[in-house]
Amino acid sequence: MPHENSLPGGFIAAPVRIGGTVRKPPVSAFVHGLLHHFEQHDWPGAPRYRGADDQGRDTFTFLRGDVPWQPEPTPYVRSPAALTATARLVRRFHDLTAGTALAADQEVVCHNDLSPKNTVYRDAEPVAFIDWDIAAPGRIHDVAHVCWQFLGLGPAVSDPAEAAALVAVIAQAYGGLDQAELVDTILWWQDRCGRGIDSGANAGEPAMIRLWEQGAVQSVRSAYEWTLRHRAVLAHATPWNLAHATPSNGDKIDVDPADDRSPGNAPNHAR
Ligand SMILES: Nc1ncnc2c1ncn2[C@@H]1O[C@H](COP(=O)(O)OP(=O)(O)O)[C@@H](O)[C@H]1O
Ligand SMILES: [Mg+2]
Repeated sequence: MPHENSLPGGFIAAPVRIGGTVRKPPVSAFVHGLLHHFEQHDWPGAPRYRGADDQGRDTFTFLRGDVPWQPEPTPYVRSPAALTATARLVRRFHDLTAGTALAADQEVVCHNDLSPKNTVYRDAEPVAFIDWDIAAPGRIHDVAHVCWQFLGLGPAVSDPAEAAALVAVIAQAYGGLDQAELVDTILWWQDRCGRGIDSGANAGEPAMIRLWEQGAVQSVRSAYEWTLRHRAVLAHATPWNLAHATPSNGDKIDVDPADDRSPGNAPNHAR
């Protein structure tokens, strides 16, 4: 009997590792098809699906690296370099699914739970996303979720202007996003998530009941209120601000000294 190791950081599924594989309760046929699609395109940013095991659990390849699953993620998660790589990784799988049957009537397939605890890092660089259980068609709300989760948008943020600059880094690295629309989508998504937990718990869904009991509705609402309060700052900052902000790992964005833009009149690079 192969040895099973439980994996830290799981919230719902309690997956286990067996050798080079991870076993989880079965996910949908849609997710199997999505992971096959990524494999067919040789995209290394997701685990491979390897079928069901003799206990009916789904089998995925184990991806080597670090998964920052603790509530307070490792500082490199919020470095401009890692955020840029994260946004590009998201854009890559969105592009891979754009216009496919998997995206149905939407633009692309969204992961729907992009956060540090579902990201594998190697040498402080994001290389893959795991936990594709709730992937579904969509687009911009996946990037909104990235901003919320990777930047921890909410009352714990001490410097909204720095957070705004990092939202701009994400919007710019993803490409082609209107930053004001992105911030409005964060608000819409936070509100929707709060309501979703409430109604799911009322409907008796075990995962939603657990979240509700942990006070998730209250913390999502505080995050929403914080984002609403700082909406104008978040919507109009550009990466220019990073020259004056101090991201958690001390990284700076290179700024051309001849470039005399100010936040008030700078063009919005994220558009
Ligand atoms: N394919 C994988 N490769 C490496 N680690 C994994 C993989 N799948 C899961 N893990 C580890 O197990 C933890 C929980 O897995 P996850 O699929 O996110 O479960 P849950 O649905 O409960 O959130 C992750 O945070 C990660 O540490
Ligand atoms: Mg997870």
